[in-house]
Amino acid sequence: MADPVREETVRVGLLGCGHVGSALVRLVDEHADVIESRAGVRIEITRVAVRNLARERDVPLPASSFTHDTESVVTDPDVDVVVEVIGGIEPARSLITEALKTGKPVVTANKELLANVGKELFETAEGSGVDLLFEASVAGGIPLIRPLRESLAGDRIRRVIGIVNGTTNYILTRMTEEGSTFHDALAEAQTLGYAERDPSADIEGYDAAAKATIIASIAFGARIVAGDVYREGISEITEHDIASARDLGYVVKLLAVAEESDGDLAVRVHPSMIPLHHPLAAVRESFNALFIEADAVGELMLYGRGAGGSPTASAVLGDLIDAAKNLASGGRGATIGALTRRRVRPIDEVESQFYLLMEVADRPGVLAKIADQFGRHGVSIKSMQQRGIGDDARLIFVTHRAREADLRATVHALRDVDVVHRVGSVIRVLGDEE
Ligand SMILES: NC(=O)c1ccc[n+]([C@@H]2O[C@H](COP(=O)([O-])OP(=O)(O)OC[C@H]3O[C@@H](n4cnc5c(N)ncnc54)[C@H](OP(=O)(O)O)[C@@H]3O)[C@@H](O)[C@H]2O)c1
Repeated sequence: MADPVREETVRVGLLGCGHVGSALVRLVDEHADVIESRAGVRIEITRVAVRNLARERDVPLPASSFTHDTESVVTDPDVDVVVEVIGGIEPARSLITEALKTGKPVVTANKELLANVGKELFETAEGSGVDLLFEASVAGGIPLIRPLRESLAGDRIRRVIGIVNGTTNYILTRMTEEGSTFHDALAEAQTLGYAERDPSADIEGYDAAAKATIIASIAFGARIVAGDVYREGISEITEHDIASARDLGYVVKLLAVAEESDGDLAVRVHPSMIPLHHPLAAVRESFNALFIEADAVGELMLYGRGAGGSPTASAVLGDLIDAAKNLASGGRGATIGALTRRRVRPIDEVESQFYLLMEVADRPGVLAKIADQFGRHGVSIKSMQQRGIGDDARLIFVTHRAREADLRATVHALRDVDVVHRVGSVIRVLGDEE
């Protein structure tokens, strides 16, 4: 006969009750029976800290649970586990540190915090022997952290490629499917609430870069900080690039790439052209996906909602149940382990295929002059297309794999060639030479 399920009540102090926090409160309420029967613990949200006590909140909790004194929630002896869904660096950092130091496990969804001061927080958690869980910090509702650090712990991960920002994926989908300009697609995303009024964190790739930092740290057990990640956003992508990509059999996506190559790591966020047959090409609208390449498992893809209160709360609740079970059993979950310092390859040394668009004079001898510049800098051309535009021609090149520094030098030199009127977009290609 199976052991009777041991039921314990684990009391939760919730820091923040916005999109994610309020969805978590509702989820805990709606799924209480399932949680209790499956996990053998009862989860009770006892204290909630918010900024504005007067705000109406659609959550099944009495008004007496709320306070704006965040510290009192962390230090309350009736709080066993702390969930941080405030966001930003402070006061989240101090509150989490205090909770960990007093032996309380913490669950957080805060990518910005982990990308910037994750090392310090993990050391504090390690020192106190308590869980610091953060599944929701990357790709919202998609389970990624646990698969990387537990399910794939015995494999050797070579590369993780992610579409980890729903706003930019939505904008690029509209540009691809409707032929919209970047500005029209952004305006539509703002109207629908997918993009903030100040969209720079998303469109310039900062949000994706913070997530890339966490992905690389977990996938490679390395100490990666925000400054290690090369970043480019999508604001320079034009409708012409999108149309050329389609003609060439590609689609443009903002990718976060973390890879190991010859003992070094490379971590970067930038727009890429990916072949239409690649599984990531099918990730549309505001969906996210992670494509993992590892020695034993081969290729693996995780797909789902990377943001939104409810999907993110689902990931937070998974962590919360883990922390609660560990607390009830006196154990701990998988730890992040010792993060080693690894060389992170500067972007100049990274190799990719490239797409280049340029406008040139449409007359004999032009191609030879241009090809000469590619050759001088050791960049080999894979394919070229030409289209007439009045007295000019638009040339589209796709290169073989080349170092970023060499490609940059080629572009620099091309700008000085008299027949070259404009070097337009330069976009990396996730090609068939990987
Ligand atoms: N939303 C998503 O789709 C999503 C996805 C993945 C990860 N995340 C992460 O989840 C976290 C929360 O995001 P969210 O969208 O839920 O944010 P949000 O809607 O802005 O909610 C933030 C909450 O924190 C409270 N708060 C802010 N500063 C505070 C302070 N100094 N003291 C006490 N309370 C404070 C706010 O109080 P008031 O309600 O009184 O203003 C609000 O309840 C962030 O780290 C975010 O990056 C969010």
